[in-house]
Parts: sequence; C-alpha cells; structure tokens
Amino acid sequence: MKGISTEVVSNKKAFLGWISSKVREKAAEMYNEKGKVLDIGCGNGLLIAMLGAKGVDTSGITGMDYSSRLLYEARDVFNANLQKGAPLIHGNFFDLPFKDNTFDDLFLLNTTMNLEDADLEELLAEVSRILLPGGRMYLDIRNAESHIIKWRYLINMKRGNVFVRAYKLDEFRKVLKRAGFNVLAVEYIGLKSRFITPAYVLKVSKER
Ligand SMILES: C[S@@+](CC[C@H](N)C(=O)[O-])C[C@H]1O[C@@H](n2cnc3c(N)ncnc32)[C@H](O)[C@@H]1O
Repeated sequence: MKGISTEVVSNKKAFLGWISSKVREKAAEMYNEKGKVLDIGCGNGLLIAMLGAKGVDTSGITGMDYSSRLLYEARDVFNANLQKGAPLIHGNFFDLPFKDNTFDDLFLLNTTMNLEDADLEELLAEVSRILLPGGRMYLDIRNAESHIIKWRYLINMKRGNVFVRAYKLDEFRKVLKRAGFNVLAVEYIGLKSRFITPAYVLKVSKER
C-alpha cells in the first residue's frame, strides 16, 4: 500500500484488497484539515498510519474499534512504520463513548458495506451526535451501478458469505440528506465512470 509497510497485517485478504486500500488512500489524500479526529471502526490502524506517513500529527487522532485483536495489531502497524500512532479506544460505534459535538473530522471507511439500512441510519445519527456542526466526515460506499460489484456481490450472496450492501450514488445522497449531512465532494475509485468505479469516497459535512 502506498507509503506504508503492511507486513504485520494478519488478514491481508480482508484489509489489503485493492478497493479497500484505494478507499483509504483516497480518504487520506482528501483530508487536509487540523483538529480533533476520530477514525470509527479503525481496524488495524492502516488509515492512521497513512495519515502519519503524509505528515499529519496523529496524536490528534483517536482510533476506535470493537475488536481488541485489531487494536493490538494497529500498535504493530504503527511500530512497523516507526510511528507513534494514535490513542486507541475499544468501543461500539452504535454507542460512541464521546460527548456531543466533540470532533472536527470523522472517518468511516470500508464499513457501510457491511451494514443493513436500519443499522446505517442508526450509526449516522450516532456519528452526527459527536461531530461538531459544520464538521466533516469521510466515508465510502460500494457502487451498486458497477458491473464488477454487481457480479461480486451476487456470487457473495449465493455463497452465503457475510452481508454486503452497495448503493447508487443518488440513493446514498438521500440517505445522507435524511441524516443531516451535506455532500462536499465525491471521489471515484479507479475509472471515473458510474458503471465502472467500484466505490466512491465522499466528504460530507454536518448541517449547522
Ligand atoms: C472492514 S473493517 C474496516 C477497517 C478500517 N476502517 C479500514 O478501512 O481498514 C470494519 C471494521 O469495523 C469494525 N466494527 C464493526 N462493527 C463495529 C462496531 N459495532 N463497533 C466498533 N467497530 C466495529 C470491525 O472490527 C472492523 O475493524
């Protein structure tokens, strides 16, 4: 992955696939702010390490996940990259252990695809609570109009694998609007075609 060592990542198939890696790279590229940041469902800390490699002061970032194993692995990722990393918190993202209006920026990456619609709605309400008015969030969706994603998800469903959800961009804009977010930017992963790009990364802001 661009800019960081990933040798210590134990589940390379889950974390180092092309789409998820590109999503993290794109989100790290889009982030150009200062302030308090939370990486929700930070997993093994790859995004935080990428931000560190980009020169962002990661002591202002908190990583949160409900997998202790992945949080331990995040420490290994930071060490392997000679980075001090970020404070890491064990918690459930449906019940975030933070006060209202705490963060300037949030990341929610490679996660919406595993949530049922009602769960995503609940999560967006909870993340909105801890984000400052006007604060930004970076999140991605898998693209339901992409031929590759359609085939991949069909095969996945037939095999009875883990739940996966893709969205059309316009459909997801409505989900965001209902949750009180305005879309500031939309970036494509790979080719800039709505029938080809497998995923979008969005920068949104909480309505004031
Ligand atoms: C596919 S991984 C993505 C990890 C990371 N954001 C990335 O892009 O590499 C989804 C992450 O969400 C975490 N997760 C899932 N449900 C969660 C919950 N209810 N509370 C906190 N973390 C959760 C998982 O443990 C996992 O690390």
